Amino acid sequence: MTNEELKKEIIRLKKEKNAVILGHYYQIDEIQELSDYIGDSLALAQEAQRTDAPIIVFCGVHFMAETAKILNPSRKVLLPDVNASCSLAESCTGEDLRRFKAEHPGHIVVSYVNCSAEVKAESDLICTSGNAEKLINALPADQKIIFAPDKNLGGYINSQTGRNMVLWNGVCTVHDALQAENILKLKQQNPDAPVVAHPECNSAVLAVSEFVGSTKAMLNYIAKSDNKRFIVATESGILYEMRRNNPDKEFIAVPSGENCACTDCAYMKMNTLEKLYKCLRDEQPEIVLSEEMIEKAARPIVRMLDMSRELGIIK
Ligand code: 13P
Ligand code: SF4
Repeated sequence: MTNEELKKEIIRLKKEKNAVILGHYYQIDEIQELSDYIGDSLALAQEAQRTDAPIIVFCGVHFMAETAKILNPSRKVLLPDVNASCSLAESCTGEDLRRFKAEHPGHIVVSYVNCSAEVKAESDLICTSGNAEKLINALPADQKIIFAPDKNLGGYINSQTGRNMVLWNGVCTVHDALQAENILKLKQQNPDAPVVAHPECNSAVLAVSEFVGSTKAMLNYIAKSDNKRFIVATESGILYEMRRNNPDKEFIAVPSGENCACTDCAYMKMNTLEKLYKCLRDEQPEIVLSEEMIEKAARPIVRMLDMSRELGIIK
């Protein structure tokens, strides 16, 4: 089938099965186009919680689809490529975290949503890059905290809140690969363009960035800014939404290496139009979790959503 035929079939099957397609900003442009909702991790978790569609096709990575299943267990949750993982989720297993907790008695665990259901089940509170700073600030000042699994996001939150959270040593390999050196060169060539960066980037990159925030926060910053050009230090899928929302503005992507002009998350890009079509047609691969796991992992996610509402971060 051609891409056009695949798109038509996806739209037809989606209607026939009353399915909803949730797409992360890092998906390929064609999938973003076909998605009913496009968003960052926080917005998609909210959407997964409130949808009444019997089938959720999650176009993102495995931990996101798991989160959707945990928040809405009576729905069938599908992921076009079941191998679409995440370097952060892979860096820490439930067993790893149990051991880490035993080494740090008296600490609560705040985990970045980029982790497996098993790690969520071992956590007290989940956060996303869109709410991490405010949630951590809302915890008692003397509360000892383990932050897992992203040491870059955790280090950034420590620097912003004055906390001294113990950090699990994981990174997003996509964001961590970006180098301050390359950004400084781009800044020299484009002095009118502020740098916007995701907090999963390393501290040297964040130190030379004018704005640090989640995908949604970056989009908001750009929409409100009077600047016409921006240097973008994050995954390249976001450029689709940046360009769509700001046709009058120009975006300069920070390359991840000497020979690469792009910054693609290989996991996010595993979902293709063909896999999305087959997934809707066959209702496979499906996310399946035990009731016990769903119950344990739901607690810290629901706590995150409740706190985010109380703090006015989400509606
Ligand atoms: P957000 O969508 O929460 O900004 O996270 C970015 C990311 O890397 C998702 O895997
Ligand atoms: Fe994971 Fe990084 Fe890919 Fe996001 S961009 S899914 S954090 S590897």
